[in-house]
Amino acid sequence: MKCSRSKSKIKDEQKNSHNLVVLDFIGSHVVRLFVTKYPDYQIFNLDALTYAGNLENLKDIEDASNYTFIKEDINDAAVLKELFLQHKFDSVIHLAAESHVDRSITDPLSFVKTNIIGTMNLLNAAKDLWKDNYENKLFYHISTDEVYGTLGETGFFNEETAYDPNSPYSASKAGSDHFVRAYGETYGLPYIITNCSNNYGPNQFPEKLIPLFIHNIVQNKALPVYGDGNYTRDWLYVEDHAIAIDLAFHKSEVKNTYNIGGFNEWKNLELVKLLCTVMDKKLNRENGSSQKLITFIKDRPGHDKRYAIDATRINKELGWKPSVTFEEGLEKTVDWYLSNEEWLRNVTSGKYQEYYEEQYR
Ligand code: TYD
Repeated sequence: MKCSRSKSKIKDEQKNSHNLVVLDFIGSHVVRLFVTKYPDYQIFNLDALTYAGNLENLKDIEDASNYTFIKEDINDAAVLKELFLQHKFDSVIHLAAESHVDRSITDPLSFVKTNIIGTMNLLNAAKDLWKDNYENKLFYHISTDEVYGTLGETGFFNEETAYDPNSPYSASKAGSDHFVRAYGETYGLPYIITNCSNNYGPNQFPEKLIPLFIHNIVQNKALPVYGDGNYTRDWLYVEDHAIAIDLAFHKSEVKNTYNIGGFNEWKNLELVKLLCTVMDKKLNRENGSSQKLITFIKDRPGHDKRYAIDATRINKELGWKPSVTFEEGLEKTVDWYLSNEEWLRNVTSGKYQEYYEEQYR
């Protein structure tokens, strides 16, 4: 049975509520949105800071009176239990994940640890604190469209599509989704799950396609396109994802799932060509010069051909749709990276170099 949360009631009762957001790149945008839009909420941001630069992502709000940063790891069950007891969180928005497919191919176990065991630790801490009274509590788990596997030339993933993950990354996210659902069924834990398509935007670590290629174009380095470049992804600007999360957090029924997507499919090679054109303009380079950096390399093993999201449900039920076009979002993203060269330099020093050599040797 679906138990619905009263919308007007929630607003009142969530005043002064303690909301834990567990971070990654998308999480930093969610934290900023919640801290600025809901001054009555106490937002606790938990991050292990495994990736360089995460704290810098939130410099603009670090002094806000409703914001607290906690440097801890979701892999530490005892610490989580303690934190939940201490701060009495009313809700959790869980965005912490190892999320890069290529890294999951070289080190699958670390994905099991963070994505599955880490999620279990959060679930256990929430359940133990809330189990006597689940009213107005919420465990919001953020997931990916990659749990659905791959599509052919046509069709879309919707909320009823069967899970069929192909990479260690997507298998670990699928596992975590299943555990969240299982805690709902077994222990009555109020949860929602949203599965989103590829995000892009400011602050994304330059291991993913768009920030990596922006970084390489600036440096006149090769743009390593896997296979023939005819793989298709649906791209969503990260701030639009944060808006969708805000809506789902406040308005979704519990035990519910929404797919979130950009209605914006691109073949990798076409996307890279568009990015090259934007970059040539921004860097005052001759049109076509960045495209010369495109280099086709050996395909990623188990590479999913196409992802495409049917986001009709969240559109119809919560009135959400993307607010920026891909061209607008890409331009904002490029502008951000070009005016935050220090951030880029910081996150690409040290361990990043080792990763890059290993991955693209
Ligand atoms: P990515 O940003 O890693 O996201 P995901 O694998 O989760 O979709 O990759 C997006 C697409 O770009 C994917 O089809 C793989 C491709 N890609 C490349 O061709 N070269 C690269 O160096 C990277 C990082 C990705």
